[in-house]
Amino acid sequence: MSAHESDAYPVSPEMPAMFDGMKLAAVAAVLYIIVRCLNLKSPTAPPKLVYQDTALNRFLLKSCPILTKEYIPPLLWGKSGHLQTALYGKLGRVSSPHPNGLRMYLPMPDGATATFDLFEPLADHQTGEDFTMVICPGIGNHSEKHYIRTFVDYSQKQGYRCAVLNHLGALPNIELTSPRVFTYGCTWEFAAMVGYIKKAFPQTRLIVVGFSLGGNIVCKYLGENRANQERVLCCVSVCQGYSALRAQETFLQWDQCRRFYNFLMADNMKKIILSHRASLFGNTSVMLDADLSRLYTATSLMQIDDSIMRKFHGYSSLKEYYEKESCVHYIHNVNVPLLLVNSADDPLVHQSLLTIPSTLAEKKENVTFALTLHGGHLGFFEGAVLFPQPLTWMDKVIVGYANAMCQWEKQKPPCQASGQQNAGQCQEATSQ
Ligand SMILES: *[C@@H]1O[C@H](CO)[C@@H](O)[C@H](O)[C@H]1NC(C)=O
Ligand SMILES: *[C@@H]1O[C@H](CO)[C@@H](O)[C@H](O)[C@H]1NC(C)=O
Ligand SMILES: *[C@@H]1O[C@H](CO)[C@@H](O)[C@H](O)[C@H]1NC(C)=O
Repeated sequence: MSAHESDAYPVSPEMPAMFDGMKLAAVAAVLYIIVRCLNLKSPTAPPKLVYQDTALNRFLLKSCPILTKEYIPPLLWGKSGHLQTALYGKLGRVSSPHPNGLRMYLPMPDGATATFDLFEPLADHQTGEDFTMVICPGIGNHSEKHYIRTFVDYSQKQGYRCAVLNHLGALPNIELTSPRVFTYGCTWEFAAMVGYIKKAFPQTRLIVVGFSLGGNIVCKYLGENRANQERVLCCVSVCQGYSALRAQETFLQWDQCRRFYNFLMADNMKKIILSHRASLFGNTSVMLDADLSRLYTATSLMQIDDSIMRKFHGYSSLKEYYEKESCVHYIHNVNVPLLLVNSADDPLVHQSLLTIPSTLAEKKENVTFALTLHGGHLGFFEGAVLFPQPLTWMDKVIVGYANAMCQWEKQKPPCQASGQQNAGQCQEATSQ
C-alpha cells in the first residue's frame, strides 16, 4: 500500500502543473491570435490628408475639425477592417432611423424606369439657404439600406434635402421596364435624378455624395461633362476603388480574403439578376440562355461581368467594360471641391488603388484625399469598447465637410466671385 502511495504521489503534483502550463500556453495563444487579428496594438491616428495649401482648403480643415482629429474605432473590434466590414454588411447600422421619403419614378429614353427617394429637410439649414444632397449608394444598394437611412436622417436634421438613387434593379419589389440593370459606371439614372432636382428646386445647390461603387458613378458623372458640375457645391466619395480594371486583378488574390468577398458579392449580384430573370432574358434582350447558365455557375464578379453586365452597354470585352466604366478617366475633369475618403484596412479596396486619389490631390487644388487607418469598407463605427453608436465617423465627416462648404459660399468675399483683382485681400479675409 505504502509503496503504491509513494509511487503515486510524485506523479499527481506534476499533472496539474502540466495542465496549468498547457492552459497558460493555450490562453496565451488565443490572446496572441486575438491581438493579431483584432489589431489591438495598432495605434489610432488622425486621417492622413493629401491636399494643397489654398485659402479654401485651410478654411475647410478649420471648419471641419473631424478631418484633422483622430478617428477612434470601438476598442475591442474596431481596428479589424474585416469586422467593421462584416458588421456593416450584415447589420448595416445599429438602431437606424426610418426617414420618410417620397418615391419618384423617372422614365428613361430606353424604356427603363429610374427610381429615387426624396427626403425633405427636417430643420432650417444653418446658412438659411437651400441645399440638396444627391446620393448614390453602393453596388446594388438602395435607399432602404441601413447606412443610407442613418445618413439621410442625420442630413435631414442638419437642414439638407436628400435624394437617394435606387440602383436600377436593386429594389426587391420594383419590376424592370426594360432589359437592363445598373452597371459600375452607367450614370444615366443618376443624371436623371439630378436633372429632376435641378428643375424641381431651381434655387437649390447640390452636394454630391457617393458610397463605394456610388463614388465611382458620381465622380464619373461630374467629370463626363462640364454642365454636370453646374450648381454643384462640392462632392464627397467614400470607399470607392477608382479603377475597375486595376481592382479586378486584386480581386482574384487571397490576401485580406478578397477572393472570398468577391464570392459573396458575386452571390448578391446573382440574386439581383436572377430576380429579374423574366425581363432580362426575355426575347427582347441581348442575353442568351448560355449566359444564364454561365451566371448560375459563376463564383466571381468577373464571371458575371463577362457573361452579363458588359452586354447591357454593348462592350465587346471585359477589359473595355472595366476601362470605360471607371471614374479614373474622368475624375481629373472635376473642378468643384472634392473630398475622397478611403480606409487603409478596407478589405475590398487594395492599397495599390489609393495612389489614384493621392496623386490627384497632389495635382488638383480642389481635391482632398483623406485616408483613415481603420474603418473597413463603409464601417467607420464609433463607440467606447464594444457597442457602436448609431452615427458613424463617415456620416459626420460628410455632413461636416458639406457644412463647411456651405459656410464658405456664404462668407465668400465678393472678390472670390468676381475674379483675381483682390486676391490678396481674399487670402487675408479667409485666413483669419
Ligand atoms: C450593398 O453594398 C455592399 C457594399 O457596397 C455589398 O456588400 C452588398 O452586397 C450590397 N447589397 C446588395 C444587395 O448587393
Ligand atoms: C416575346 O415576343 C413576343 C412577340 O414577338 C411577345 O408577344 C412576348 O411578350 C415577348 N416576351 C417577352 C418575355 O418579352
Ligand atoms: C475650386 O473651387 C472653388 C469653389 O467652388 C472655385 O471657385 C474654384 O474655381 C475651384 N478651383 C479650380 C481650380 O477649379
